[in-house]
Amino acid sequence: MSEERAEACAVLLRQARAMVDADGTGEAALEKIKGLLVGLANRGEALFSKDDYAMPDAHGRNHVLALEDGDGMGLYLTIGLPGKEAAPHDHGIWCVNAAISGREVHRFYRRTDDGSREGYATVEEIGEVTVAPGQGMTMSDHAIHATAVVGDEPAIGLALYGYALVRFPAVVWFHPAFSSVRVGASRRAEAA
Ligand SMILES: [Fe+2]
Repeated sequence: MSEERAEACAVLLRQARAMVDADGTGEAALEKIKGLLVGLANRGEALFSKDDYAMPDAHGRNHVLALEDGDGMGLYLTIGLPGKEAAPHDHGIWCVNAAISGREVHRFYRRTDDGSREGYATVEEIGEVTVAPGQGMTMSDHAIHATAVVGDEPAIGLALYGYALVRFPAVVWFHPAFSSVRVGASRRAEAA
């Protein structure tokens, strides 16, 4: 099964690469890639057996499924325990998610200040998607989302990012209650 899984993940990366090269990473292209990823996630436990992936000790954890060579995309199996939450943040790079099991709510935001004050930011909520089996989500390069695993089973899914996590840009974290923003460390430079 692991060989079949590795092949299926490699095929997904090749297909996604062909789409990105042909159509870029705009909304329409990411929607197409989402279709591929939902299709892969729909193969479920038969391809992604829970026995093959360690659960998180707390919150969440990621397992590498397939990586492109060079500075390419990364495909991960993600696990979030019930109740895991993340405050609004911007990854700086596009991503597409699909669920194998469980449910995670993604709330989307847009920044409403002009970015001119250091450490200050305001955001407003603009939408919500629940990632559950058969239902994925896409985020463009600077989309902002907050996440929450809902229900009482872990959210297990697939995540395809425009860069591998080890070469991730700085993640920007927003704190709406305090109108504040802080920028995490970028892994781009050390990986170059
Ligand atoms: Fe995120």
